[in-house]
Amino acid sequence: MDTPFRKHVLLAICGGIAAYKSAELVRLLRKQGCEVRVVMTRSAREFVNPLTFQALSGNPVHTELLDVDEENAMGHINLARWADVVVIAPTTANTLAKCAHGLADDLVTTLFLAATCPVYMAPAMNQAMWNKAITQENIRKLENYGVNFIGPGSGDQACGEIGKGRMAEPAEICQRLLAEPRMTVLQSVKVLVSAGPTREYIASVRYITNRSSGKMGYALARAALQAGAQVSLVSGPVNLSSPAGLDIVNVETASQMYDAVLTRAVNADIYIGAAAVADYRPIAMEKDKIKKQADQTNLVLHKTKDILTDVARLNNAPFTVGFAAETNDLEVYAQEKLRKKNLDMIAANWVGQEQGGFDSEQNALEVFWDQGHASLAMTDKNQLAEQLINLIATRFNEKNRS
Ligand code: PMT
Repeated sequence: MDTPFRKHVLLAICGGIAAYKSAELVRLLRKQGCEVRVVMTRSAREFVNPLTFQALSGNPVHTELLDVDEENAMGHINLARWADVVVIAPTTANTLAKCAHGLADDLVTTLFLAATCPVYMAPAMNQAMWNKAITQENIRKLENYGVNFIGPGSGDQACGEIGKGRMAEPAEICQRLLAEPRMTVLQSVKVLVSAGPTREYIASVRYITNRSSGKMGYALARAALQAGAQVSLVSGPVNLSSPAGLDIVNVETASQMYDAVLTRAVNADIYIGAAAVADYRPIAMEKDKIKKQADQTNLVLHKTKDILTDVARLNNAPFTVGFAAETNDLEVYAQEKLRKKNLDMIAANWVGQEQGGFDSEQNALEVFWDQGHASLAMTDKNQLAEQLINLIATRFNEKNRS
């Protein structure tokens, strides 16, 4: 069975000495959490035994276009549909030419025609074959049809010649594939993040606030963007510049944050409440400065509306992730908030300690969800945000696919 949120890479291997390098590519892709299925041409099998790729990918290797058993298990159309990305590595001059002319006489070329996802080719051939005008014309043609080329590199060739035509290194191919937008964990998912403190006015010149700098929430918005999401950020007053490419709404009070979040949450797929929203606000704001009078005075406070609870209560609520800022009994309080507010996930952090929490560059999180827990160790908030976004993406996709 598929692991829920692994990206699907279909690796097609053609017959060339560089086929042995593709074994390393499978290993690297799996290390990055990708699910890999391998297809081999007849001549590729002359260079490397399919068993190698079966063992490395953990999946059966597909070799025949018209094989009754394989067509039943995962036929060429199903394989093409399954893939988030197709990579042909190595691509020989022969397969390149067939693809450029729309021929489909084996499993690899048929898959190329059937694929609707992005296709990458990593050519490998003798330098004279690479430089031949017809090969270059085929490449231009394929580029015009949207095929992405990785390499080739130059240097010593297996045939003893020197020049361009060596297949790109597996690490380079892996890096290019991971940068493909379709491979990002939250591609086109709508993520709404709240960040920073709120200000609750006592009078026009005084307010109650807290020590939130907004760094955690901004780091999460940035990480969600990098993961391919469409991000909206509702921000309390902070001294941070907004990451480019997101929709930002600046608010000041808990009530303004409530309105801004609730209006957007109806269209969001994921809501992450990283803001330190005031739990109480003064019952009314004095228009003028309150003058110093008695030795003691009382301030009457009203509870603010809980944004997180109301987001989780929406019909078609987004996947809702809360934060818990605690000075003691972190797990007990976090689990209680997860349950009472009916959240999908909660990220709890210690506050009021020497390291982490409010206004610090670093943080650590204990993350809880129904029947699950992950500890994210103390690190820079940007790195921590990437880890949390990956965790959220995994749970979000698991929930959506179930
Ligand atoms: O901004 P930084 O300086 O980087 O600091 C990061 C942080 C410590 C502020 C952040 O990591 C964090 O913990 N944010 C949540 C702070 C908080 O208000 O925690 P809480 O345990 O009081 O609230 C629980 C959850 O309810 C939070 O998701 C909060 O956004 C939400 N809430 C609270 C009150 C309210 N009226 N509406 C809410 O939605």
